[in-house]
Amino acid sequence: MPAITCIDDLKRLHERRAPRMFFDYCESGSWTEQTFRENTTDFADIRLRQKVAVNMEGRTTKSQMIGQDVAMPVALAPVGMTGMQCADGEIKAARAAEKFGVPFTLSTMSICSIEDVAEATTKPFWFQLYVMRDKDFVAGMIERAKKAKCSALVLTLDLQILGQRHKDLKNDLNAPPRLTLKNLLNLATKPQWCLGMLGTKRRTFRNIVGHAKGVQNLNSLMSWTAEQFDPRLDWDKIRQIKDMWGGKLILKGILDAEDARRAADFGADAIVVSNHGGRQLDGALSSIRMLPEIVRAVGDKTEVHLDSGIRSGQDVLKALALGAKGTYIGRSYIYGLGAMGEKGVTKALEVIHKELDISMALCGERDVNNLRRDNLLIPSGYFDAYH
Ligand code: GLV
Repeated sequence: MPAITCIDDLKRLHERRAPRMFFDYCESGSWTEQTFRENTTDFADIRLRQKVAVNMEGRTTKSQMIGQDVAMPVALAPVGMTGMQCADGEIKAARAAEKFGVPFTLSTMSICSIEDVAEATTKPFWFQLYVMRDKDFVAGMIERAKKAKCSALVLTLDLQILGQRHKDLKNDLNAPPRLTLKNLLNLATKPQWCLGMLGTKRRTFRNIVGHAKGVQNLNSLMSWTAEQFDPRLDWDKIRQIKDMWGGKLILKGILDAEDARRAADFGADAIVVSNHGGRQLDGALSSIRMLPEIVRAVGDKTEVHLDSGIRSGQDVLKALALGAKGTYIGRSYIYGLGAMGEKGVTKALEVIHKELDISMALCGERDVNNLRRDNLLIPSGYFDAYH
């Protein structure tokens, strides 16, 4: 196998090793995928200011996110169906994150349950919550996250209705996949994946099946969201969730300065500037383009984090220099997981760490916490091109 030196190498292997429908699920944006594409191209348009003759010894990428120590300010984002990219995917990703010293966020729509992940790890992870119509189920999830000693609740605000991703509909996305001729032919080319899946009992949405009333057999994320997610989620309901949880709360999916101010006044410990990886509102601006306006709007009332579009350590550097205190990777680690399981997630983290460390040094900085706007060169009009 050729050496793996960048996230793109992991992506190629992921595409080869995971069933088509799950690679496509990861690699989709909604509708025209404009926002999905611009999340990465907007990062690329920002350049770095090279500085020389600066002592580069004694560098550090250590920082904190919501008061927790992190080896670098890069958390693993919540990603649905991670345990379909490879067997026991959430457990493997959580273990890799724990060993590396960065937070892992478990999605509500995971294959491995909160309890599965808690049992397989020793440090607290974060839990991402979707708000459902069924109040008892939501209260139950919060209790389970408390019992598992999750150290933050990440409440997603931008997916009460699912954005349409064409590929998922065309592929008839299901967990586990339906045994149609088309799927069987594709699975026949993925022997490692099939062996892994035969060796685990975790093959459907285990946070939900057996926990939500009347749900015994659930395999379609799309029908579940359409039927169960609560479209009436508003600030009153968010308040109820906050009170029920009582711990650190991160509000994810903020892309507007006014919403950000509201979230900060509300008392969120952090907000995540995010367009859900371009999977929800196609036509929304990229997270990186919205970041400075949102940082200005909240001041130091809350921590600002960012996801959507990070595929390298240079991207992390750019987000930090523009005022993010932390970042999240989704696809970047899912490629690693689909390529090589736990080792692949570790590889993704190592790749990003090395890129961040070396780029920081070449920008003349030794401490990730000192990055600032001046480290960047940004095309004029970049941040006020749209009104
Ligand atoms: C779920 O969070 C998704 O984006 O598919």
